[in-house]
Amino acid sequence: MLKGKTAVITGASTGIGKEIALKMAENGANVAIIYIGDEGLAIDVKKQAEGFGVKAEVYECNVANFDISKSVCERIASDFGTVDILVNNAGIIRDGLLLRMSEADFDAVIDVNLKGVFNMTKHMSRSIMRSGSGRIINIASVSGIMGNVGQANYSASKAGVIGLTKTTAKEFAGKKVTCNAIAPGFIVSDMTANLPQAVVDHANNTIPLKRMGTATEVANAAVFLASDMSSYITGEVIKVDGGMCM
Ligand code: NAI
Repeated sequence: MLKGKTAVITGASTGIGKEIALKMAENGANVAIIYIGDEGLAIDVKKQAEGFGVKAEVYECNVANFDISKSVCERIASDFGTVDILVNNAGIIRDGLLLRMSEADFDAVIDVNLKGVFNMTKHMSRSIMRSGSGRIINIASVSGIMGNVGQANYSASKAGVIGLTKTTAKEFAGKKVTCNAIAPGFIVSDMTANLPQAVVDHANNTIPLKRMGTATEVANAAVFLASDMSSYITGEVIKVDGGMCM
């Protein structure tokens, strides 16, 4: 479905980003795996992607840093040529009630989750516009739609991502680049691994499909948005949440 395309995925060494990178590779896309921290995890994803017969490279990059993300995007463009798909997946949480939330925790989440999307989109855009059918996919969250107690920073960042997605969709449409967001609900990953059991039980009871989602279920939506099957969809937010937010 994505044969001959090149996809850049941020936060691709773990969780949802890893699944997206591998699903893209399984569908024939070359993948640039952007990670921060443990290089071994990224190399493992690279090896698994290469198992699908595609080109895969790893790049360490703090997406929150404007200059570092610029130089990494330039390296990727030089290594792969045209980039067709950018998945802005990297994200962090620093949860706490607003009244107790520190300025540092607010800023850190906005810097990675929102400014990181701006940085990567801006620096990768020239290359994506050359694609002729470019795709930008931003991983938001249902928290950005509904708000969530304890997530003032996170829900603000993800609501910002949704606004940024719609503006990018409008500004880049003339270059045949679509931009959409995916808003996952409760997904099994490192990010949700340490939630109190009571929170997990409550989620499982209140979500209409009565379970948490998997990274693969989010990755399937990303592959759809990256493919020609989504050619007339832009500025959209697709929820992958088992019916949690409707
Ligand atoms: P995760 O913690 O496994 O993945 C986040 C990734 O982002 C990690 O690989 C991490 O190294 C990377 N990252 C963090 N800071 C970075 C930085 N400054 N520069 C580059 N990379 C950085 O968790 P998960 O669940 O896979 O999260 C992926 C995305 O999905 C995030 O944007 C998250 O907000 C979003 N999401 C997750 C949900 C869940 O229930 N797990 C629900 C809704 C959205």
